[in-house]
Amino acid sequence: MNTSPTSLTDMPVDPVAAVTHADPYPFYAALREGPPLVWNDKLRVWVASRADVIESVLLAHGALRVRPAAEPVPRAIAGSPAGEVFGHLVRMNDGAAHQAHRPALQRALAGLDLNAVHASALQVARNVPAEPLSDALFSMSVQTVAHLLGFADETLPQVDRWMRDFVACLSPLSTPDQLQSASVAAAELMTRFEVLTASAPPRNGTLLAAVLAESDASAPLSRAWLANIVGLLSQTCDATAGLLGNSLVALVRDPSLRQAARTRDGQQAIVEETARHDPPVHNTRRFASEPVTIAGTPLAVGDAVLLVLAAANRDPAFNPDPDNFKLIRERRRMLGFGHGMHACPGQALACTLAAAGLDALLQCKPDLDAMRARGWHYRPSANARIPVFH
Ligand code: HEM
Repeated sequence: MNTSPTSLTDMPVDPVAAVTHADPYPFYAALREGPPLVWNDKLRVWVASRADVIESVLLAHGALRVRPAAEPVPRAIAGSPAGEVFGHLVRMNDGAAHQAHRPALQRALAGLDLNAVHASALQVARNVPAEPLSDALFSMSVQTVAHLLGFADETLPQVDRWMRDFVACLSPLSTPDQLQSASVAAAELMTRFEVLTASAPPRNGTLLAAVLAESDASAPLSRAWLANIVGLLSQTCDATAGLLGNSLVALVRDPSLRQAARTRDGQQAIVEETARHDPPVHNTRRFASEPVTIAGTPLAVGDAVLLVLAAANRDPAFNPDPDNFKLIRERRRMLGFGHGMHACPGQALACTLAAAGLDALLQCKPDLDAMRARGWHYRPSANARIPVFH
């Protein structure tokens, strides 16, 4: 079980181990009390944990980039189909490649009708097996986004399997076999999207039609556009599974929240406070492309900075009474969806998907007290906190 409170002798060894630790928050509080940027020799990164420092790093776009200049695509996948997709993603690019695709993706996502998304998510969830629960956490949201993009219902489970295989290549913890499967999946996904966009104009009302309408892309779509549409699924996958899973953890841990979970507004509030209090994405990184000084600390070209977003969400200077889970907060602030130029354009969609997922799971009347007794642990990951229920 991974549910007991943290004792002082049971602190995570570093901010990467913290991501999957039972209770990393006392460790994050201690980090925030330290210097604004602290060098971690084992990880070879500077670590930032205070909200103001993280915001300043995320706003220093020119000097701090999303990828190291010497390795725009991880060596393990460079030259493979998975590497091709990775190399085009807006998330992994700055400058022209970022600006060529981000605005259209952002406008298309902002135009989604979230009530319709919620209804679609409930409909898709009906066909997703509720067991094993740890797989359902992924499938509900991934299959809903695939549905929104315009895939036919019978293809959703296959798209889901490819996506699960593909996202493995985004983790530094993947094995050679997983990287091989990720490349097979990347090639399949690119082909399916090519077919979806080339055979006929995409169905009106789909997210795919919206992306194309917002962009200057025309058929046949460039490889960069295809990769970024695949990217909408990959950005959904782990993070939304974590948001849904951690929302369920909140309900399992705290019976006083269960009354609120009976209404749609209550489910939405639980998800939004979970996104702040126990978020699915605990950290992200930046790499100095030129000398820059952050919070009085000079960084050299090539230096890496680990931004502990989950620590910033509980910075008392950012959110009052940060350790308490509160369904109503006057001004809830969070950095778990990023900030500045690369901020997540899918935040509202993600919260709607997780709220609908929570609704669908609760309709199956799970025994939350039995889940608490059985416990859970977290999937191995360097940045995503996704529970596996026992
Ligand atoms: C709970 C779910 C999600 C979380 C926690 C999350 C978090 C994030 C974070 C932290 C970033 C910025 C990373 C950085 O600056 O280093 C990001 C970027 C991005 N997210 Fe999300 N995300 C979620 C769901 C989604 C969904 C559902 C979509 C779209 C379908 C999406 C699309 C994107 C895209 C396209 C980017 C790259 C933006 C850019 O680089 O300009 N995300 N996300």
